Parts: sequence; structure tokens; C-alpha cells
Amino acid sequence: MLDEQAKKTMLRKIPHGIYVCGVKDGEDLNGFTASWIMQASFQPPLVTNCVKADSTSHTMLKASGVFALSVLEAGQKEIAQNFFKPLRRVGNKFEDIEFYPGPETGCPVIKDALGYVECRVVGSVEYGDHTVFVGEVIGAGIHKAGEPLLLEDTGWNYGG
Ligand SMILES: Cc1cc2nc3c(=O)[nH]c(=O)nc-3n(C[C@H](O)[C@H](O)[C@H](O)COP(=O)(O)O)c2cc1C
Repeated sequence: MLDEQAKKTMLRKIPHGIYVCGVKDGEDLNGFTASWIMQASFQPPLVTNCVKADSTSHTMLKASGVFALSVLEAGQKEIAQNFFKPLRRVGNKFEDIEFYPGPETGCPVIKDALGYVECRVVGSVEYGDHTVFVGEVIGAGIHKAGEPLLLEDTGWNYGG
């Protein structure tokens, strides 16, 4: 039988970064705070992005087949905080944040982030409460040098 407490404790020891995943559907733009991101292949360059199945972003990402990951800088906790609120409740999350459309996908990229990668979805596993989207990296850019924001530095948890 699964030891729930051990599962939670061990899964929470897996290190994560914090990103804003920019999504679009036609003219509509949105973004959400994402931490379940990792590299998945060198050639072609792939990343996995696990997206909450009942979120607005999930619907948009599935429809468009593209997303952009802005890599937040250490200290940009407020930006992450802004983007973990659901669109349905707070409305446009990009209102007070400078962004531009990623050149390859049109998904919103945060101007003040360290940089970004843009992805095209090449596969997915829809099972459980998050869908694992596999994205091929088709664009990338660096805004500035710096250290990334890490989940463990925020005192927040997403996992376990
Ligand atoms: C620290 C942290 C990490 C998160 N990581 C993810 C993640 O990897 N995938 C995900 O789908 N949601 C993640 N979320 C939750 C989303 O940010 C949240 O569900 C958001 O409201 C979705 O936005 P939407 O409803 O506008 O699409 C995380 C939340 C927090 C606080």
C-alpha cells in the first residue's frame, strides 16, 4: 500500500524552477505559473510541461498547440504570484506586466524575465489531473544574465 506521507515528503524533495507559461488561443492571451517543467530530449530539443486539466490555460494550450516559457529571475516572486491566480477569477493577468508576443508562436513572453523558450506541442499524455504536454523547442531568447527563481526559495509548495 502506498505510504501517503512518504510519497508527499519524497516528491516535495524534487527540485523545481518557476516559470510563467504563456498561452494563446486565437487573439486571446493568458499565462500561468508553472513549476512542473523539465527537459526531455537533446535532439530534437524537447521539454515536458504538465498542465492542470481544469485550467483555462489547458483549454487554450490544447487548442493552439503552442506555449512559451518565461524563465523568472530570483526575486521575481510577485510575478509568479500574479500568474497563479486563475483567469476565470482575476481576468487579464497581463494588464500590469510588460510582455511581447514570442516571434515563433505569438504566445506572451515576459519582458523582465531572464529569457524564454517557445514550444510547439508534439505529444501529450492526458491522464490524471494534469496533462503532460511534450513541447519541441522552436524558439529561444536571452533578455539578461542572472539566477533563476527556484520553488524552494519561495516557501511555496506545488507537489506531493
Ligand atoms: C508554486 C506554483 C507552481 C505551479 N505549477 C503549476 C504547474 O506546473 N502546472 C500547472 O498547470 N499549474 C501550476 N500551478 C497552478 C497554476 O498556476 C494555477 O492553476 C493557475 O490559476 C492557472 O491559471 P488559469 O486558470 O488562468 O489557466 C502552480 C501554482 C503554484 C502556486
